[in-house]
Amino acid sequence: MYICVCKGIKESDVEDLGRSGITCPKQLAATLGIDDDDACGRCLDKIHDLVTIASSEHKRHCTSVQV
Ligand code: FES
Repeated sequence: MYICVCKGIKESDVEDLGRSGITCPKQLAATLGIDDDDACGRCLDKIHDLVTIASSEHKRHCTSVQV
C-alpha cells in the first residue's frame, strides 16, 4: 500500500527502514525524502504513524533474530 504519492513510498519501504534500525522521526523523514522541498509535506504531518510502523517492525525483527 502506498503511503506517499509524492515519493512513491510504500508501507513496506518504511518496514524495511525499521528493520534497519531507522525509527526516529528525523531519520525517517530524511531517508524517505519526505522533508525535501519538492514534497507536499502531508507525510510529515503523519510522521508519528510512520514511526509506529518502523518501530513495530524493528521490534518484531529484533525479537525474531536467534542469538
Ligand atoms: S504525499 Fe508524501 S510528501 Fe507528499
